[in-house]
Amino acid sequence: MQNIIDVKNLSFSYPDGTVVFKNIDLTVSDGESVGIIGPNGAGKSTLLMLLDGLIDTHNGQIIISGMPMNKKHIPGIREKIGFLFQDPDDQIFMPTVFDNVAFGLANKNISEEDIKEKVTRILNYIGLPNHEKRLANHLSFGQRKLVSLASVLVMEPDIFLLDEPTSNLDRRERRIIIEFISKLEGQAKIIISHDYDALQQLCSKIIIMGDNQILYSGDKKVLSDDAFLNKCKL
Ligand SMILES: Nc1ncnc2c1ncn2[C@@H]1O[C@H](COP(=O)(O)OP(=O)(O)OP(=O)(O)O)[C@@H](O)[C@H]1O
Ligand SMILES: [Mg+2]
Repeated sequence: MQNIIDVKNLSFSYPDGTVVFKNIDLTVSDGESVGIIGPNGAGKSTLLMLLDGLIDTHNGQIIISGMPMNKKHIPGIREKIGFLFQDPDDQIFMPTVFDNVAFGLANKNISEEDIKEKVTRILNYIGLPNHEKRLANHLSFGQRKLVSLASVLVMEPDIFLLDEPTSNLDRRERRIIIEFISKLEGQAKIIISHDYDALQQLCSKIIIMGDNQILYSGDKKVLSDDAFLNKCKL
């Protein structure tokens, strides 16, 4: 079976010369849930941005759902992917909570009534009931993170790329989000997190990034191997 995410020999440096990684390989199969850990600055967010075509120059091969990453395929690839930015302020750009969550749905062939229904349902679920009319820039950081997450979840994509979905959430919200993500069983997921308990619950495979490469890819047992994590500067 073809992998839904197939990355071969991927190298990337920022235009200012910062080398992020060299020759990394990564595969994710349908419905698989992969956790990525690594020290600050290891390139975790950069990798996800490359997978969503948000950064377009790279060396190596990225294939998403059978589509090689290139200008022609980026719109098709984006349709498959739900991308949660690490910083909600990169995700939220419309004035109201409703507009932010409904934004992606507006481009799908869905009636206004169904959009309203979907937005209300997801806001109730994530613990922000009756927040539709609130101004997004008046919300707390954690609330903005929840609105970002809602805008991704509501699209029901085939692939979730989630950059620190539980950061800045209180215990209750964190639990709700973990439960929600764990129920997304059919979809492929890559989850970046420093929250190892969340990854323990959500992922079957763990990747450790560091030193411009992938230091480990395998069983999630590594999350409790303190000696090895130490070696990886974690
Ligand atoms: N726009 C940019 N221009 C130049 N360098 C950048 C840019 N964005 C990120 N970097 C650098 O690229 C490297 C990888 O950054 P990235 O944000 O992908 O790390 P990360 O693993 O997500 O870290 P964190 O755990 O802190 O979120 C870092 O050295 C960072 O300083
Ligand atoms: Mg990051």
